[in-house]
Amino acid sequence: MPEKSNRNMNRRELLGAAATVAAVGAVASTAKAQAPSIMSSYKPLVVGAHNGNRLKNEDGETGVQIAYRMITAGDDVLDATIHCNNLPEISEEDTSVGYGGLPDANGDVTLDACCMHGPLKRAGGVAYIQGVRTPSWVAKDVMMKTNHHLLAGQGATDFAREHGHKIEGDLNSATSFNRYLEWKKRVEEEGDNRTFAELDLDFIEKKGLDVTYQMAHEGRIDIEHIHGTINTNAINHKGEICGNTTTSGRGFKVPGRVGDSPILGAGLYVDNDIGAAGSTGLGEMNLYHLCSFLIVEKMRDGMHPKDAGMYALNRVKDFCVGNERYMNEKGEIRFNLQFYVLDKKSQYAGVAMRGGEGRFFAVCDDNGPRHELMDSIYMND
Ligand code: GLY
Repeated sequence: MPEKSNRNMNRRELLGAAATVAAVGAVASTAKAQAPSIMSSYKPLVVGAHNGNRLKNEDGETGVQIAYRMITAGDDVLDATIHCNNLPEISEEDTSVGYGGLPDANGDVTLDACCMHGPLKRAGGVAYIQGVRTPSWVAKDVMMKTNHHLLAGQGATDFAREHGHKIEGDLNSATSFNRYLEWKKRVEEEGDNRTFAELDLDFIEKKGLDVTYQMAHEGRIDIEHIHGTINTNAINHKGEICGNTTTSGRGFKVPGRVGDSPILGAGLYVDNDIGAAGSTGLGEMNLYHLCSFLIVEKMRDGMHPKDAGMYALNRVKDFCVGNERYMNEKGEIRFNLQFYVLDKKSQYAGVAMRGGEGRFFAVCDDNGPRHELMDSIYMND
């Protein structure tokens, strides 16, 4: 794929020491200068997780708005979805991805990301990478510059360094690290004030999860950031479909844990003839069913994105029913899992295991950027 000149400039800015939300704004405005007129046979559309329509760049644009402007200006669709996801990746306000993502039980921020380019029929991913604020771009470099799909751990970090990505010693922000310290203190209190070194990992994981939800209910952690992630998918005038998913994984996870986000078919799947699906939420439950692939296959059979997404959620629900680990006192699935789906006709959906008031997904089309309510199996209390 030919690299566009504005793409190269974007990259340098994002990899620079001063990579900030404002940098993304500067990047995005570059695209304005070159809007060609394109005959429209497909309806351009961007669909993804709610955090794609929260943070704004210096021009006041949200992530989905940047992506929509880029795809309607003729930029590469995958680059557009990555630019959308860069806003939360580089901002410490979003503790679910990139810089300032909630760390693991050792206090280390480890990141997973995946991208898929429909027209090129190529994909790339990184898992358990450390030190890079924008793992989405590293995933794209894996896709474009290797014969592999997925690089993990130190090898992924070394690959990123070799390809010009800035490596930092610690991706914690003051916010994420203070939340970690509070979480650790509470887990140690649960363990009769033994230190982490004296507690075994099973105890830390079991009590740690209780403490995580306790802190969420107290409003100290955004509940959406416990398994928080961002997925963004888009289609342009030419019917080219791409997607990108990026995450810091479950907050305070067992060190070494990798979730669904970097796994093709789970965190993301794109078929340029059919559509795209991506996920946020409890990655383990998505992995059992490779739901993004399942959703795209159901759309291949003719289902609307909403029906295909609900089909996948019901598969997960049926799998879990009867297992008390996954159920609440009302006999409902207690975890959340969300899918963001679009098809070749630019039909779209956001579906969630648990929805209701305040449970949104992000959309941008010719009606502008907005949040829409998720369809769901259960309503939140
Ligand atoms: N869905 C993100 C994760 O579970 O890691």
